[in-house]
This record gives sequence, structure tokens and C-alpha cells, in this order.
Amino acid sequence: MAGMIPRDFIDDMIARTDIVDIVDSRVKLKKAGKNYQACCPFHNEKSPSFTVSQDKQFYHCFGCGVHGNAISFLMEFDRLEFPEAIEELARYHGVDVPREKGNPSDRPSIPRAQLDNDYALMDKATKFFQQQLKKHANSEHVISYLKKRGLSGETVKHWEIGYAPSEWDAVLSQFGKGADQSTRQQQLLDLKLITENDNGKRFDFFRDRVMFPIRDKRGRVIGFGGRVLDEGGPKYLNSPETRIFHKGNELYGFYQAKQAHRQLDKVLIVEGYMDVVALAQYGIDYAVASLGTSTTPEHIQMLVRATNDIICCYDGDRAGREAAWRAMENALPYLKDGVTMRFLFLPDGEDPDTMVQSIGQQAFEAKLDEAQPLSRFLFDNLMQQHNVSSSEGKAALKAHAQPLIEKILGDNQRDLLLEELSRLCGERDRYRRDRDIQQANQNSSRPRYVPSGAPQKTTISPVRMMIRLLLDNPSLAIESPQVDLSALVETAIPGLDVLVKVHQFCAAHPHAHTGVVLEHFRNTAESRILSKLLTQEHFVSDEGAKAEYADSFAKLINWHCEQRMEQLMVKARVSGLSADEKQELNLLMQAKKPG
Ligand code: UTP
Ligand code: MN
Repeated sequence: MAGMIPRDFIDDMIARTDIVDIVDSRVKLKKAGKNYQACCPFHNEKSPSFTVSQDKQFYHCFGCGVHGNAISFLMEFDRLEFPEAIEELARYHGVDVPREKGNPSDRPSIPRAQLDNDYALMDKATKFFQQQLKKHANSEHVISYLKKRGLSGETVKHWEIGYAPSEWDAVLSQFGKGADQSTRQQQLLDLKLITENDNGKRFDFFRDRVMFPIRDKRGRVIGFGGRVLDEGGPKYLNSPETRIFHKGNELYGFYQAKQAHRQLDKVLIVEGYMDVVALAQYGIDYAVASLGTSTTPEHIQMLVRATNDIICCYDGDRAGREAAWRAMENALPYLKDGVTMRFLFLPDGEDPDTMVQSIGQQAFEAKLDEAQPLSRFLFDNLMQQHNVSSSEGKAALKAHAQPLIEKILGDNQRDLLLEELSRLCGERDRYRRDRDIQQANQNSSRPRYVPSGAPQKTTISPVRMMIRLLLDNPSLAIESPQVDLSALVETAIPGLDVLVKVHQFCAAHPHAHTGVVLEHFRNTAESRILSKLLTQEHFVSDEGAKAEYADSFAKLINWHCEQRMEQLMVKARVSGLSADEKQELNLLMQAKKPG
């Protein structure tokens, strides 16, 4: 991983790319009027509702609601992280991705050639350990250990399991000798394949261990886990963090699971290497393990992108339940609607490896089907800590649960859990009432649902309408000089701050298209609001946009004037007005008079 990619470069990549090419090379598009269409690659459908707009450089599915620009598409379709999607675009345009230096908290940027070299060495080490499993003097012993653990030859091969020789310098002499000895050994040290003691003596990091190579999302070997054969030393030794290995970002088995399934219906999170490998041998080839760390937010982000069903499988003991709770806490901010997280606890003394070997695939998968949904895991746990038969207990439960539930990303999941919480606290009716009042309020100001038929103008608020129109036509920001947002600065209009930011960007980049504007706001507080707005229909034609934009602004000014007038009139009654204020009020009242 390297330093930050400069903002300008990202904007430039988006501006240079035609989203139609990017999408079309992955999902065949058909021209339909001004836009292009296809069956949505992100949900199952028979008639196409996935639309790509070349003008706006933006895609949107009317079926499932996914939308975004070329980068978002690559992230979703190729399952890439943001920097990887940029790299993909850069490769497509045949340019290198520049990295910013300077921020000391950033990981230092690593030259491409060095990285390629590192991956190549890790690959050679993997093959070396595999060979040693077959030809080392201890080979028989190691193979019989693997057999005893129930692994087939095919499984060992598929997972590229190897053996790190018992000698102290097997890797060192295989890879660390030659004319450029000191460079080679430095690389081995950097990648932690060898290590150095206080006396400067160098020797192999992994010795006499069964080796599990760890591949990253894109299939490159970045580290190893090594298990002792007999007793002695820590049971597992893992590669420490290196310039190519960052534990919190990787999951053992994730690459293999993605290779086995184009679309992962579910992913099982387990604790150990052996669990992943044994499960796969029994046909459960969608398990992943974290690498001796707990499940991190990065892990969850990766999984949420790849699947809609995450099942956490842990020991039933206290440590297992605590690990599950931490995983859940980390997951809440990423649980969008449509993604479920479930929990399966195994009986004492069992792990997925021993379990699947004793009961087989079918029985194991039957257990998965019974995994507890998040709501049950959450409330069962909380109910054990708080006694809701007293009102103090109810209050404590609420204080504990509410902040957790509020973290959930998906509106529906969050509402359902809040409702359940209210019920447990004996407030069901109150919750419903609050919600009804809230909905009634929302409905009176802007109907959420417009009946189909003749296009009708929705009454979205003027601020939202203006943002929406700017997103579609950024040049409005310079084509409508009469729209002067600074006239509104002192008003407390909800969303005005967002409008001002979008307007500023559009005024500076009037020829940007929707995709560029969206990109600018990626990962900002505004992005969620903008995404939501973009999926709302506004029924304003491109020709009518300018008039509608000015009209919305006029409404805001009007509203602002009325507020100000009222304010001044109150002040006149209470404490009197200054000469300037009197004049202002006069002007406001004249402006209000019809004609
Ligand atoms: P477990 O102790 O549950 O190991 O640790 P396991 O996978 O069941 O291994 P076997 O079946 O005894 O071979 C689970 C995971 O915790 C990490 C490893 O990633 C391991 O797979 N771990 C465990 C370590 O990193 N170091 C250790 O000493 C032990
Ligand atoms: Mn085990």
C-alpha cells in the first residue's frame, strides 16, 4: 500500500474515462434512446432496468437502486477497493498512478518494480515450501501429520500447503546467496522470511512448520501462517506486518472463495486456517479466517461488497462470544439493507474443522441455516445483562442498545431493531406513534411517493431540487448569475450548506459531468445525501432545468425574506428597531406587496 493518490489525478481519470466503455466491456450494453441499458449485473432480473448515461457518466438501476460513476462500477463489479479501482483505470489509460508523499501517517509509497519483485519472491517461497513437503528428509513425518489431520492430497495441493524445513538456513541459502547477496537478504528480512538476532546472525523465520500461504484479494501471496507439527513454541507463527502484508486488511481464503464463486451467496467467518481448509475439503468453499486478529471494519467492508449474507462462526465459549460481539460492533456501520449478518456458536471443544469432519457437509450447512440473526444475538446478549422487569432495567437496556442500533447503516434494519427495542422496553405504542408523527410530517412537506401515470412534479424541497439540478447540469452554477447563494448565508435552511458546497464545486468545474461531481464528494459527509438525491426522479426536462433552478432559488429567497420580516417585526415590538433595520423592514414589506 502506498501514499494517497492525488485528488487531481482521480478527477482526471474520471474525466478521461467513458463509463460506457468500462461497463460495456463487462456487461453488454444496448443503446436505448439517449442512454444505454442492460440487465442489472447486481441483481437478478429478466428485463433491463440498469441504465448508463453517457452524458452524465453515471449508472443507475431502477430495479435495485445501485448507482454511481465509473470508479464505483469497478469497485462493485470487479470487487475492488477504491485505490485499486483507480489503478485499474490508470492501467486502462496506460498511465502510472502518482502517490502523494508528505503525510507521515501514510504508508510510504513503494516503487512498482519493488512490489513486483516482492510478490515474485513470495511466490518462489511458496513453491519452495511446497517442494520441501515432498522432498525434505522430514517429508514422511509431515505428510503423515497432514493425513492425521484429515487433509487429502488434493486439498493440500489446492491450498498450496508446504513445509518450512527444520534447518535454520534453508530459505536463507535458497534465496539469499549470489552476487547480489546483500540486496537479496535485505528483501528476505523486509518480507520477514528470515530474521536477524542481536548478534547480527541471520536465520529462517519459519522452521519446521506446516506452511499456509496467505493470498490477498487479487491472489498474490503476501504472507504465511506456519503451524508446529508437534508441541513446542507457539502453535501458529504468522508473518509479521511487512510492506506488502497488512493483517487487518486481509482474510485467509477470501481469494479462493471468490475464485470458487462468481457471486458469493454467503461467506462464513471462522477462526483458523485449518477451519477454512477443512471446510473447503468438505465442499464448504466459502469460508474465510482473519489472521490472528479480531474481525476489523476493513474485513467487514470487504465482505459486504462481496456478499449479502455473512455468517460468523465462533466457539460457544466466552472468548468466542466476545469475539462475535466485537465483530458485530465493527459491522454495524457497514450493514446496508439487504445484507444480513448471522451468528453460529459451536459446542464446547469443537471447531469448524473437527465439526465438519465428524458430521459432514450437509449437517454442517444445516447448522448454518439455523444461525442466529443479528437481532437475536444482540438482544439475547443485552437481555442477559439487563433485567427488563424493572423500569430501571428497561432504561439501562435502552441506553446500552440504542447507540449500537443507531450505528446500523441500513434504514430498514435500523428501524426494525429500534422497534424491537421499544417493544422490549414496553414502549411499542409510543414508538409507533413517534414514527407515525414523523412520517406524517415528512409527507406533508414532500410526498415520498408519486403515483405513476402522467409525470407529475414532485414537491421535493427547493434546496434539494437545486442540488439535484446541479448534479445533472453543473453548468447551471455559472449560467444563472441571478442565483446568488450568499444572499442566504445567515438563514438556517436545512441542507443549505450542502447546496453551497455543490454549487461552489460546479461553479469551479462547470463542464464536469455528474460522475466527476460525485467523485469529488466521495467519502464526505455529503456523499450519502447526494446519492440519495440522484436516485429520486424530479421530472424536470433538461430544457426546463434553468427556469426550475431559478424558480427554486426564488422560493428560498422568499422564505428567507419572510423569516427576516417576522424577526424584525418581533424585534420592533420587543425592543424597537434601528434606522437601518426600519429601512430593511420597509423594503421587505414593499417587496411582498403584490404587483
Ligand atoms: P486455534 O488455536 O483455534 O487454531 O487458532 P486452529 O485453527 O484450530 O488450529 P489447529 O486446528 O489446532 O491446527 C485460530 C487461529 O488463531 C491464530 C491462527 O490464525 C489460527 O488459525 N493463532 C492461534 C495464532 O496466530 N497463533 C497461535 O499460537 C494460535
Ligand atoms: Mn482446530
